[in-house]
Amino acid sequence: MTQEELFKKLVAHCKEYGFVFPSSEIYDGLGAVYDYGQMGVELKNNIKRYWWDSMTRLNDNIVGIDAAIFMHPRTWEASGHVGAFNDPLIDNRDSKKRYRADVLIEDWIAKQDEKIQKECDKARKRFGDAFNEEQYRSTSPRVLETAAKRDAVLERMSKALNDNDLVELRQIILDCEIVCPISGTRNWTEVRQFNLMFSTQMGSTADGANTIYLRPETAQGIFVNFLNVQKTGRMKLPFGIAQIGKAFRNEIVARQFIFRMREFEQMEMQFFVRPGTEMEWWNKWKETRMKWHRALGFGDDNYRFHDHEKLAHYANAATDVEFKFPFGFKEVEGIHSRTDFDLGNHQKFSGKKIQYFDPETGESYVPYVVETSIGVDRMVLQVLSAAYKEEKLESGEERTVLSIPAPLAPVKACVMPLVKKDGLPELAHKIIADLRFDHNVQYDEKDSIGKRYRRQDAIGTPFCITVDHQSLEDGTVTLRDRDTMEQSRVAISDLNTIITEKVGMKQLFEKLL
Ligand code: GAP
Repeated sequence: MTQEELFKKLVAHCKEYGFVFPSSEIYDGLGAVYDYGQMGVELKNNIKRYWWDSMTRLNDNIVGIDAAIFMHPRTWEASGHVGAFNDPLIDNRDSKKRYRADVLIEDWIAKQDEKIQKECDKARKRFGDAFNEEQYRSTSPRVLETAAKRDAVLERMSKALNDNDLVELRQIILDCEIVCPISGTRNWTEVRQFNLMFSTQMGSTADGANTIYLRPETAQGIFVNFLNVQKTGRMKLPFGIAQIGKAFRNEIVARQFIFRMREFEQMEMQFFVRPGTEMEWWNKWKETRMKWHRALGFGDDNYRFHDHEKLAHYANAATDVEFKFPFGFKEVEGIHSRTDFDLGNHQKFSGKKIQYFDPETGESYVPYVVETSIGVDRMVLQVLSAAYKEEKLESGEERTVLSIPAPLAPVKACVMPLVKKDGLPELAHKIIADLRFDHNVQYDEKDSIGKRYRRQDAIGTPFCITVDHQSLEDGTVTLRDRDTMEQSRVAISDLNTIITEKVGMKQLFEKLL
């Protein structure tokens, strides 16, 4: 199965099992907007809890807030989003389709990488065990030529983006002979800048309504509350403020399911530090955040850092944590050193002093900021794409299983009476009544036990508990493990302890310390 086929199957699976639905589907959906179903919302909540607790509970100096989505419009002038939160867009005159110019070029660069990889794969077949890919990449004339072309285009693009040189961006597209994927032609318009913020009106038009924006990042709600939190919480630098909430961007290239959405959710933490120490903290947070991802056990090789070629208008250093999705390595989280850009500008635009008095140095200054910013939806996609597996069993049967890390699984256990009579359903319900205060537990009595197992595998339930006639006699049940499919006989009185040990967040948190 190709990665593309796998991804299509995953998307279909998400819909079939109540993880993700297209928004307003009965009206044919709304582009790049999605709803989470009964399983999706549980998974999402667990991811949020993993993040929130790892920030606010494991760190004495990080507290949380929940700021409003609507903010005073001046906020977005101060933050630079009104002026600079743009994407460079280009239209194809024949297909009438609109693209992000930098994404067209990035796709071309990815194709060169694929070409190089194909050359290496061919050579590996030719040379067999003796093949040394590293050496081949550094000596094969064909590979070197493609790599040089690729690097030159990447450098031109980075410079054009940094210089805001839209003419040069278009020229790169022409020079690389990039065609529209729909029309197949090179009939391109000029490149134009397009602001990504959604706007709406507050107040009635008769009163002279104000244009306000749906926030494109949650971070600004933290910056404008810096003094409120610092003073009321008596916080001393370095300290952080964490927030989870919705953000909105009018993305033009909205594709790859919940990877790039127009309404999405962010988990952001702004860490305020003494000027001059920001690089040290940036490196620390890079390490801490990578640990958080890797603790989920999806394989260390599936993550990498990608340092930014083009820095956002507020940053002096930035890196992405990238995860290997079925469509390649892509960003899940950004770690940015934002300098004093935001607090400094809010001070200027609001006319209010936003400074910290440092008792150690006796000075007042605008703190510097290191930010960690991760998309909840991209985390959902990361978990689902790492967890989705189609397995052939020894019996010849096949099963689709989501090996979601147990602490994040939507349902923790399903209790199943072997038959719908003889007092077995009653005992099953009693077991659920004991477990439900601590865990999300389901009841299922329909179809054969095998079919019931398959249903739970498909939503990633770590445990199935079967109640049979022996249970009535000796108070034991069969506990079946999702991943090993092994079954063991355990006492009903031990169930909560066994389940808690496996599904508790504690085991994840311990890996972070
Ligand atoms: N406050 C900084 C900031 O917003 P960003 O790199 O633009 O930085 C941070 O976004 C994270 O938010 C990304 O790493 C990604 O996980 C998520 N994100 C951004 N745009 C998104 C979109 N259109 N759909 C889903 N997630 C998105």
